[in-house]
Amino acid sequence: MDISFYSRFHAPLESAYLEEVLASGLETDGLFMKRLLDCADSLYPGCRFLFTPSCTLALETALACLRLLPGDEVLLPSFNFPSAANAVLRHGGRPVLCDITPDTQNISVRDASNRLTSRTRAVIAMHYAGVSAPLGGLKRLAEEAGIALIEDAAQCVDAYYEDQPLGTVGDMGCVSFHHTKNAVCGEGGLMITKNHGHWQYARQYRLHGTNRAGYLDGEAARYTWNLPGSCAALSEPQAALLLAQLQCLSQITRSRLHVTEQYWKQLAPLEERGIAMRMRIPAYARPNGHIFYLRFQDPALLNSLIPALAAHGIDCKTHYVPLHASPMGEKLGYHKEDLPESLACYQTLLRLPVHTALTDEDIARTTETILRFV
Ligand SMILES: Cc1ncc(COP(=O)(O)O)c(C=O)c1O
Repeated sequence: MDISFYSRFHAPLESAYLEEVLASGLETDGLFMKRLLDCADSLYPGCRFLFTPSCTLALETALACLRLLPGDEVLLPSFNFPSAANAVLRHGGRPVLCDITPDTQNISVRDASNRLTSRTRAVIAMHYAGVSAPLGGLKRLAEEAGIALIEDAAQCVDAYYEDQPLGTVGDMGCVSFHHTKNAVCGEGGLMITKNHGHWQYARQYRLHGTNRAGYLDGEAARYTWNLPGSCAALSEPQAALLLAQLQCLSQITRSRLHVTEQYWKQLAPLEERGIAMRMRIPAYARPNGHIFYLRFQDPALLNSLIPALAAHGIDCKTHYVPLHASPMGEKLGYHKEDLPESLACYQTLLRLPVHTALTDEDIARTTETILRFV
């Protein structure tokens, strides 16, 4: 394909930082992690951070802080990556899958509140495409029910709910730096919290359930095993790469938003002719250009469009099989028809290429090919 779906951003200082880190002793939470934490301070003011090897491990660390009891329930959207549901299962809880709303493909507050029980301990908001879930309604739901709000902000670096960075509105938030995301270090993640108790617990969970971080900061004479933990620290070479990327974040976001805005303008005829809906951005959301998607009226048209675009060298993709309609969802007792909006989204959503290497000619070629085909 000559118009690829992904292409990572190359930050100018990557090689220099990697040379520097290779000359070091590669100590975990070393010099580059300290610089990365300073950088995170400016992106997420007033928060505490734990950089992890993936968003998956950040979510597992966040769920560990809740100390679920067997059978405790956690609400999350079905149109989703499996990481959050796996994190709930790993800590002994039961993922309760909720439907989405067709405008943003984010969790429906009404459906989530209908699924509250006396066993519900948390709701996980996933912000699809870097567009904020309805955090006002979800925060109210969580406060009234006395449960935690966790943000799966995997796709959301440099995206906002009103003026707050995604990942900082709930009790805890988790971001991804996987190679498909806006800022990348191969595999990488971040857990964010303003809650000191959660941060203290997570800080030990991340380092084998020990107080090693406190010991290294001079808070204890020795460190010991204090709670069930994991090995969930981002390595120094990844920290170095990520620092170089995050230092270019506003350039990355600007470039990606340019692509999504062009798609939005050039694909208006699809909506005028009732063929497909362009992604919606509610007034409370400030996105980061992570994904641009269309939702087609006719799944058959979408299925014939994908190979037609591929024949023109343009790589477009569908997205998640909803968790409730997956083999694992079936094992948890769900049926395909249980969550109709999630199923319809899976059948009709198409993502277009978005990255910083796309030219205006690439964008125009993609939109013209789509319009000609339909
Ligand atoms: C919504 C969501 N959550 C979690 C993840 C997992 O992120 P990671 O690959 O960093 O573990 C992804 C990955 O794409 C995702 O889309």
